[in-house]
Amino acid sequence: MNSNDEIKVNEVYVKFDGANPTGSFKDRGMTVAISMAKYLGVNVVACASTGNTSASMCAYAARANIKPLIVLPKGNVAKGKLAQAILHGAEIVFVGGGFDDALKVIIEASKKGLIYPLNSINPWRIEGQKTVGYEIVDEVGVPDWIVIPVGNAGNISALWKGLVELKKIGLIDKLPRLAGIQASGAAPLVKAYRESLDKPVFIEDPETIATAIRIGKPVNWPRALKAIKESKGVLIDVSDDEILQAQRLLARREGLGVEPASAASIAGLRKLREEGVIDRNERVVAIATGHALKDPDTASSHYVKSYEVKDVNEALSLLHKLITQ
Ligand code: F0G
Repeated sequence: MNSNDEIKVNEVYVKFDGANPTGSFKDRGMTVAISMAKYLGVNVVACASTGNTSASMCAYAARANIKPLIVLPKGNVAKGKLAQAILHGAEIVFVGGGFDDALKVIIEASKKGLIYPLNSINPWRIEGQKTVGYEIVDEVGVPDWIVIPVGNAGNISALWKGLVELKKIGLIDKLPRLAGIQASGAAPLVKAYRESLDKPVFIEDPETIATAIRIGKPVNWPRALKAIKESKGVLIDVSDDEILQAQRLLARREGLGVEPASAASIAGLRKLREEGVIDRNERVVAIATGHALKDPDTASSHYVKSYEVKDVNEALSLLHKLITQ
């Protein structure tokens, strides 16, 4: 990376999942889970989402000719993600409260047999999401650390499952340590890790600019805590300011546009380096889970540097001034 000087790790790679078909890592699991839904003859699929799961589910459901129903936290889904779901034909239920309430609706409805759930409680989602680990190993071998943002904790669980299986069948001979990163206002797993609790104390009103990981009751917490323990990993939290700084660093120094939740992994890496948990000479992969266009409001409201002029002449003289400044 260009920004090794700022991150202070000699060898660091960003695994960019924003170039998947709908712009996030969710496509990895969704292609498998929707294929299974089709195989099972399901007519309606449903999910709760902070945005990316629903965008991905609706696109794959459209292709499979299955009806998509989504339950979203009202007022807390980034514009790009919502636009995708609408474009691909979602029927949307906006629920007050947050993602955790939306997920409760899905879990209850699937217990009653009303819908086929496509949240990461669906094992096929996890199976598909293992592939990020396969690709990392393929591309750079086994790094010392993989840094990954954590919300509902499906992705970190899938990553670890995939890597452990690769080792079991002898394709790799060591495993990386995992660093899970949560946003400070939505970090129930970090608290459990720090205080060595057997289970997390859930957060009722999570809050962060990284709406993708604005989750207080992650359903996959048992698997995530197990992955951290088995990998001798760590869980830390980063503030919204640290997330925005990391988003800007990737955008301005690497030409890589990622959404705030994705920038959390870079913010976390910086912090772990500062705290001396990760060494300068260790090889690190940070996963960037989604594209910047997912959340255009955050990108355009925090970094704006623009001017307004009334005509061509004024524009030209301003350009001259900017260039010669
Ligand atoms: N990064 C992005 C961009 C996400 O959309 C999510 C989760 C995560 C990280 C965290 O992954 O939940 O497996 O720990 N988004 C879900 C959604 C919750 O509904 O789109 P996780």
